[in-house]
Amino acid sequence: MNNFQYHNPVRIIFGKGQIAQLPKQIPASAKIMMTYGGGSILKNGVYDQVKSALKEYDFLEFGGIEPNPTYETLMKAVEIARKEGVNFLLSVGGGSVLDGTKFIAAAIPFEAEDPWHILSQRAKIKKAIPLGAVLTLPATGSEMNYYAVISRSETQEKKGMGNPLVYPQFSILDPETTFSLPARQIANGIADAFTHVMEQYMTYHVGAEIQDRMAEAVLLTLIQEGPKMMDNPTDYDAAANVMWAATMALNGLLAAGVPTDWATHQIGHELTALHGIDHARTLAVVLPHLLAFKKETKREKLVRYAKNVWQLSGSEEELTEKAIQKTADFYASLGIPTKASEYNIGKDTVEKVVARFVDRGMNFGEHADITPEAVGQILALSLA
Ligand code: NZQ
Ligand code: ZN
Repeated sequence: MNNFQYHNPVRIIFGKGQIAQLPKQIPASAKIMMTYGGGSILKNGVYDQVKSALKEYDFLEFGGIEPNPTYETLMKAVEIARKEGVNFLLSVGGGSVLDGTKFIAAAIPFEAEDPWHILSQRAKIKKAIPLGAVLTLPATGSEMNYYAVISRSETQEKKGMGNPLVYPQFSILDPETTFSLPARQIANGIADAFTHVMEQYMTYHVGAEIQDRMAEAVLLTLIQEGPKMMDNPTDYDAAANVMWAATMALNGLLAAGVPTDWATHQIGHELTALHGIDHARTLAVVLPHLLAFKKETKREKLVRYAKNVWQLSGSEEELTEKAIQKTADFYASLGIPTKASEYNIGKDTVEKVVARFVDRGMNFGEHADITPEAVGQILALSLA
C-alpha cells in the first residue's frame, strides 16, 4: 500500500427530515446566500423545507445555476454576494449547484484578479466563504469532497479546481429529496458513481485490501440497488443505499494509498465541453474502450473485478474480456449508450480533443501512459 494522509472534515447529516437540522449548522448571525438550479427544488418541496428551517435567518437566493455550471452565471452570484456582504453559502440541489457554490465561495474573496484564473491557471486561493449543502441528486460525491468542475460557455472549456478551503462544512443527505428525480438523472448518478469507483480501483495491485474491498462493496451496492431505484424511485432504502454509495465513491477514502486513473473523466469533460453531453454519459462512451485499450496493464485488476464483482470464472483472457463487456452492459442496462458515435461525435471532435491534450502537454492514467495519441485511439474505438 502506498503512503497516504486522509482528512475529511465534512459533517454528513443523513436521513429523512434532516433538512430541519439546518439551524444547528449555520451561525445565527450568518448572512446566507442560498444557491439552487433550474427550479426542481421549487416543485418537490425541498425549497419549502429549507425556507422553513431558515425562517430566523437573514438570507437571499440565487437560482438558475445550470447543469455543468458556467463561470458566466456564477460570476453574477459572486457580484451580488460581494455587494450584499454574504458570509455563508448554502447549496440546495445536485452536483452542479454544489460545484458552482464552491467556485462562488472561492471567487468572492479572490478580488485581486479574475476568478477564472482559479480554474485556468490554477491560482492558489487563500480564503473561501464557508459553505454547506443540501444534496438532492446522488452522483458526484461533491457533498464530501473539495472538487468543483466549472464550464465557460464563451470558450467551450470545462475545468476543475480542488482546494480543502471549499470542503462543505456539512452536507444534508435526505434520500426522500431524490424521489422526484427523472429516470435519466437517476441513471446518470449511478453511472457517475460507478465510474468514480472504477477510476480508483481499476489500476494495478498495490496490496491495499481495504481499499479494494471497499471499492468492490460500493460497485456491488450500485449494481444491486441502482436498478431498484430506477424501477421504483420512491423506494427509500434503494435511494438511501445509492446516495451513500455515491458519497463513498468520491470522498477520498477509496483513493487513499492506491494509484488512480482519472483519464476517463479528463476525456469525458472535453466531450461535455464540446458537445454538451451529460457528464455521466461521457464516461460511458470512454471507460469500456479505455479498459479494452489498456487491458494488458490493467489485467490483474480486471481479473479480480471479474471474479469479485461479477462472480465470473474462466481463464485470465476470458475474465478480462468478460469484465469489460459487463462494464459496458451495466451502462447499457441504465439506458446509457457506450459509443461516442451515438452522439453524432465524429473524427473532427476526436482531433479537437487530442489537440487540447497536446496543448496541455500532460499524460494521464496510473502509469502516465495515456498520451494525447492514446486518447485519440481510445476515442476511435468508441466511434467504431
Ligand atoms: O437544476 P435543477 O432544476 O435543480 O434540476 C437538476 C438538473 O436539471 C435535476 N435535479 C437535481 N436534483 C433533482 C433534480 N430533478 C428532480 N428532482 C431532484 N431531486 O437534475 C439535473 C442535473 O443536475 P446536476 O446537478 O447537473 O447533476 P449532477 O449531480 O450529476 O452534477 C453534474 C456536475 O457535477 C460535476 C460534473 O462535471 C457536472 O458538471 N462533477 C463534480 C464532481 C465533484 N465535484 O467531485 C465530480 C464528478 O466527476 C463530476 O465531474
Ligand atoms: Zn464524475
